[in-house]
Amino acid sequence: MELRPFGLTHRMVSAIGQGTWYNDNEDPASAIDALRRGLDLGMTHIDTAEMYLSGAAEDLVAEAIAGRRDEVFLVSKVLPQNASLSGTIAACERSLTRLETDRLDCYLLHWRGDYPLEETFAAFEQLRSEGKILSWGVSNFDEPDLEEALQVAGQGRIACNQVLYHLQERAIEHAVLPWCEEHGVAVVAYSPFGHGDFPGPHTEGGRILEEIATAHQATPRQVVLRFLVRRPSLFAIPKASRVDHAEENAGAGELRLTAAELARIDEAFPRGPRPRELPML
Ligand SMILES: NC(=O)c1ccc[n+]([C@@H]2O[C@H](COP(=O)([O-])OP(=O)(O)OC[C@H]3O[C@@H](n4cnc5c(N)ncnc54)[C@H](OP(=O)(O)O)[C@@H]3O)[C@@H](O)[C@H]2O)c1
Repeated sequence: MELRPFGLTHRMVSAIGQGTWYNDNEDPASAIDALRRGLDLGMTHIDTAEMYLSGAAEDLVAEAIAGRRDEVFLVSKVLPQNASLSGTIAACERSLTRLETDRLDCYLLHWRGDYPLEETFAAFEQLRSEGKILSWGVSNFDEPDLEEALQVAGQGRIACNQVLYHLQERAIEHAVLPWCEEHGVAVVAYSPFGHGDFPGPHTEGGRILEEIATAHQATPRQVVLRFLVRRPSLFAIPKASRVDHAEENAGAGELRLTAAELARIDEAFPRGPRPRELPML
């Protein structure tokens, strides 16, 4: 599995990691087996959140990483409605308890809410000074949010921005990705398979993915993951609750696509126009 520096944290983190946004009807035992197999294969970047299964996803991660905490780059998130100064600290303590660990490698604001960034970031800094989190970042931040976050936090504080990024949703490439690269902020692609809406083999794009995959004795999903992490700033966190899915996803870690193949995918799944600016009110 390829490791790369996670923004300005200088931590080496697996380019392909593992998400944990499970459905209520999923088999926890299978999900735990998948996470463990993923760890065996080097997908050591594990993403969870207090929101997922109302905290039960963190319990499940605790079971999966028991005895292997030092292998893992463990990320969790505070919900915006908890992101006051004291609320963020309390939420982090609850996550640490559920995860049965004394620290998170990175702690994120899940999305922007009503609490001022000053409060949330002050809580993050306090948690960091206490060693309960080793770094912190944001999620679902657009460029103006990032600019404001930088003003509040100062340079070198925001480790990552975790954002929606898959072949049919490439909006971050217009402004968010360049901004993050300019400021040394890692970009973590969530829902890299479109949250279950993956290009089928009978679509034009799906056929192109199949052709490229066949040339590498790989699979279309591995090709997609590799495309999404084609720049050094990028990471992807597919979620798999089956062992065979985790194995397939980990296989993307060593795949390399040619410039011509990347260009073909780029053309087959165009990034589309820049998201429309909201009118000034
Ligand atoms: N920050 C945020 O706001 C935010 C939002 C959304 C997601 N996330 C994070 O990003 C993670 C990934 O996103 P996601 O869960 O929305 O969706 P996703 O990873 O795009 O897709 C998950 C779906 O793909 C399937 N899958 C995975 N690997 C497969 C394979 N090799 N072959 C066939 N199917 C495969 C999964 O099936 P099985 O489960 O059956 O294996 C599941 O149905 C989340 O779990 C979460 O940690 C963050």
